[in-house]
Formats: sequence, structure tokens, C-alpha cells
Amino acid sequence: MLAPMGRIAILSDVHGNAEAFKAVLEDIKQRGINTIINIGDLIGYGPEPEQCIDLAMEFCDVSLFGNHEYAVLNGAQGFNPVAEAAVNFVRKRLKPPDTTNEDMLRRWSFLESLLPSLHAHAGFSAMHGSPRHFIMEYVLPSDPEGDPLKIDSIFDAMLRPIAFVGHTHFPGVIEESGTRFLTMESLEGRYKLSPKRNAIINVGSVGQPRDRDIRACYAEFDGEGVYFRRVEYDVDTTVRKIYELDGLHESLGHRLLEGC
Ligand SMILES: [Fe+2]
Repeated sequence: MLAPMGRIAILSDVHGNAEAFKAVLEDIKQRGINTIINIGDLIGYGPEPEQCIDLAMEFCDVSLFGNHEYAVLNGAQGFNPVAEAAVNFVRKRLKPPDTTNEDMLRRWSFLESLLPSLHAHAGFSAMHGSPRHFIMEYVLPSDPEGDPLKIDSIFDAMLRPIAFVGHTHFPGVIEESGTRFLTMESLEGRYKLSPKRNAIINVGSVGQPRDRDIRACYAEFDGEGVYFRRVEYDVDTTVRKIYELDGLHESLGHRLLEGC
């Protein structure tokens, strides 16, 4: 059993989708959850990076680096062409051209302040990628079956019983010594912690779900278990905004309509 704590919302991969982010923040508020941890990729792909940064600065207690923040600050490396163009789009929009625009400077300073890529608590840790490589490594749903040595190595790297991750945009759980990825559906939206088994919990994506469910996703953690929360939002508005922008590939809108 973990140390007592309040209820926490852990969210990831907002990806510039302000409509989804606002709906999730409202859901969190309605549930009376006071602490919000954002584990990265607030920007990239979506049409409204500025608004998402502003919302994170106002409402998230912790914000961590994702690979998209890293790429916007340092240049895209190893991205596919659509993702690289999206990084360049955000970089152009956010990078301060001069020092007179205070809003732009404030947002850029926020990005630079995200350098911590790990949030550690008595009972859990949280990072964008994996407990082994906090920002870049994917812990894939296929790994327990396809690459069990990788999963063993990742669990060996864990210093706390629970690790919350994002990055794949696919919510679910991998238990230590488990042979398969436990999807959100198979868990019926709720995972109860086992005192005997460490676990990696993927909180899914707020702004670009890839598990064929187009609703925004986040996780609520109460110290004993995790609830995967799905929130409907105005997908059509986000898609329209993507289509209207020159710098974003239209496939980034299509995938929001398909959830993959
Ligand atoms: Fe992402």
C-alpha cells in the first residue's frame, strides 16, 4: 500500500489540442481533483500550442518534458516528416522573434523550465517515456510479448513500485512479470494496485488518442488504484483548425476522427 495521498490527475500528450485539454481540465475540476501532473508532449501536432501552454501554466502543478518539447527547443531529430513539420510549425509559432512580446517570452521560458523529466513521489514516479529513458523510449503495448527482455530491463530500472508514462498514446498497464499489455477495456477502466507486483501505467493521450477511442484520455490516481477517464470534446472544431492551418498536415486531423 502506498503512502496516503490525495487524488491526482496524471495526463499526457495534449499535443496542442486545446479543445480536448479544456474538456479534461473541466472533468478534473468536476471530480474535485486538486493536483494535476502533466507528463509531457503538451505541444506538437495540434493547432493551439500557445493556449495549451497557458492552460498548463495555470492549472498543472507539475509539467514535465516530452520528446516534442525537447524537439521544439533543440530541433527535431528522428521524427517522421509529418511530425517534423509539426515540430517546425510549433517552433516557428513559439520561438520569440524579439524580446518585446511578453506572452511569447513567458511561454518560451515555460518550455525551458520543463527540463526536469522525472517527477518522483514516495509511492510512484512519472515521466513521459519510460523509467529507463525518461523522454524518448516507448514502452509499447506489444513489448510484454514481443520484447520481454526489454520490459524486464525497464522494471529493473524502476526505483518505485509504480511508473506513470505516456508517449504511446495508448492507455493500459504492464505488470512486472506480466505476459501481456492490459488494455483499458480489459481492465474495465480501473486498475487496482497489487502490493506484490510493480506496474507501468500508461495514462493515454488527452489530445491525440491512438487506441481507436476518439475521446480524450487521462488517469486518476487515488493511491490504491487508477481510473482511466475518457472525456468527450469538440473533435470537429480541433480538426477544422488543423485543416485551416498551412503548417500542419491534414492527416493530423484525420487521425483525431479515427482515434489512431
Ligand atoms: Fe506524444
